[in-house]
Amino acid sequence: MTTPDALTVDESTLVLGIETSCDETAAALVMGGNDVVSNVVSTQIELHADFGGVVPEVASRAHLDALNPVISRAIVEGGVDESRIDAIACTVGPGLVGALLVGVSAAKSLALAWGKPFVGVNHMEAHLYAASLEDPSLEFPLVVLLVSGGHTMLVEMQDHGRYRLLGQTIDDAAGEAFDKVARFLDLGYPGGPAIDEAALLGDPDAIPFPRAMRDAGLDFSFSGLKTSVMNYVRKHPDVGDADVAASFQMAVVDVLVHKARLAAAQVGATGIVLGGGVAANSVLREELLSACAADGIQGFLPSRAMCTDNAAMIAAAGWHRLRSDGPSTLDVGAIPNLKLPLID
Ligand code: KG4
Ligand code: ZN
Repeated sequence: MTTPDALTVDESTLVLGIETSCDETAAALVMGGNDVVSNVVSTQIELHADFGGVVPEVASRAHLDALNPVISRAIVEGGVDESRIDAIACTVGPGLVGALLVGVSAAKSLALAWGKPFVGVNHMEAHLYAASLEDPSLEFPLVVLLVSGGHTMLVEMQDHGRYRLLGQTIDDAAGEAFDKVARFLDLGYPGGPAIDEAALLGDPDAIPFPRAMRDAGLDFSFSGLKTSVMNYVRKHPDVGDADVAASFQMAVVDVLVHKARLAAAQVGATGIVLGGGVAANSVLREELLSACAADGIQGFLPSRAMCTDNAAMIAAAGWHRLRSDGPSTLDVGAIPNLKLPLID
């Protein structure tokens, strides 16, 4: 039996990652912090679609049903015996408390039953690691633009575990703005992919929506933009959804890319990394890459599967935390408001 103290964390260390913080039930095996051996995600999107958003109680129950089969599949697809697993990493926060508890309880039970170390992972920190899973050659310092349904932040990643917050939204997250505008336009749920698709047929310059705080530091604001979309559509009922979607999307992307660029210049970053669900946005990906090319720095875009919630990024962040801090104690619980650990 491997005792937590005896574990040497190296390139052969195999971590089972578990993620249940929101509406994806996921498990993955990752070796050495960046070699993805298996990666299984079971999404609940259809369960929540009728409600137009994630219903916490429904999410917890669905995690309960899905988690054991998802973990088993990750182990079978990894082609390893469970005795080969060296440690179990699980998201402890931030997220929905009931949803988090399902993963945390399962992870701690497995750690106890198998006699393996348990490591609690910060979901936001894991998003920072998603890009390096696909491009291990990333060099620090990096600027990470983390854009999800709950967060919009610019983070300087100076080294593993050394993060500085450069800017964040003062109101709505970018993903939240996509979701709210899509709901207003009746485009479906989740809103981001629906707007992305609707915008393909629209003109991004059709409507000059405001770029709030564009020239005011590195913080963001998206709630006024959402309101101006609503006001515009009410005043111009004949406007096409495609033009509204494309113009709204361009207003969001313009500010995100502009500020990420400023941030990279400010800290002398080697590149900009995208993370979080909104990083799947096709225009954001294009615009960020061309801005990075123009500035002579690298643009790292994780695959869409790696941008959205998954357990490979949890296992990767868990490997790094295990190496730097060792295992977590088993009295760690779910921490719904957990913040990214910052150096200042
Ligand atoms: O990181 P994530 O999977 O979950 C958390 O919020 O933690 O991000 C989900 C968010 C949702 O707001 C969704 O609408 C948005 O990411 N999203 C997108 C796209 N795909 C997902 N937003 C814009 N364009 C997309 N293609
Ligand atoms: Zn997430």
